[in-house]
Amino acid sequence: MNNRIELAQRKDAVVVENLQMVYRVGKVDVPALRGVEITVKQGEFVAVMGPSGCGKSTLLHLLGGLLRPTSGRIFVDGIEISAVNDTERTRIRREKIGFVFQRFNLLPTLNARDNIELARRIHGNGYRNGSGLAVDEVLRLLRLEDKMRHKPAELSGGEQQRLSIARAVINKPALLLADEPTGSLDSDNSLLVLQMLQELNIRYGQTIIMITHDLEAASTASRIVEMRDGRILNRVQNLVYAREQGLF
Ligand SMILES: Nc1ncnc2c1ncn2[C@@H]1O[C@H](COP(=O)(O)OP(=O)(O)O)[C@@H](O)[C@H]1O
Ligand SMILES: [Mg+2]
Repeated sequence: MNNRIELAQRKDAVVVENLQMVYRVGKVDVPALRGVEITVKQGEFVAVMGPSGCGKSTLLHLLGGLLRPTSGRIFVDGIEISAVNDTERTRIRREKIGFVFQRFNLLPTLNARDNIELARRIHGNGYRNGSGLAVDEVLRLLRLEDKMRHKPAELSGGEQQRLSIARAVINKPALLLADEPTGSLDSDNSLLVLQMLQELNIRYGQTIIMITHDLEAASTASRIVEMRDGRILNRVQNLVYAREQGLF
């Protein structure tokens, strides 16, 4: 094992080496990732941008252990999730990853508080040893304290998304993954959700990787990376892109 990986294993939230993903559709191979390389440090808030179909969601699903890569290596919080079996990968996902999707995926029969409590119980870790966040604290931070008895259907889209964020962070995951979290929200609610992600990042040092195709959303992150055709563009291209977009 080379030094870079060894060091990365100890210190970084995410290390990805030459990641390839090919989907098989019938008899056709669809290459989605063609050698992704990225390192994300603990406490970083990274936005991933790129055109539709360039592989953003595939990358996020691989980082979260929802899929197994065709080849390459993925380390999350020091563990090589690309090298473990399915059972182990599921366990690591529960312990280390929080997900937020464009669609909220809340349980319709449970109220806001119980949706969060359930996430705590399923996870196990925070529930057993008390290392997670306090439910009241998270509800307050996400400005849902008045809504805790509401069921998802009794919440606005913005409130539902904030609830799904609360659920995702309640166990203090090593990594919060968000795929277009503001994709179905109006601009006021988008702004609120982004501010809260930023606050979780700053206040708890929550490491976040967020996919977005909205440059304004991306600019709440501490770093923007750009994907094209299954690859992450290198730094120089990235700077050029940012300059073109008037980011600095
Ligand atoms: N489950 C799947 N089966 C087959 N092909 C897929 C699947 N998911 C994504 N793809 C293909 O992989 C490529 C990358 O898709 P995706 O990761 O969803 O991109 P993005 O999120 O950037 O829009 C696209 O060509 C897409 O059609
Ligand atoms: Mg996508």
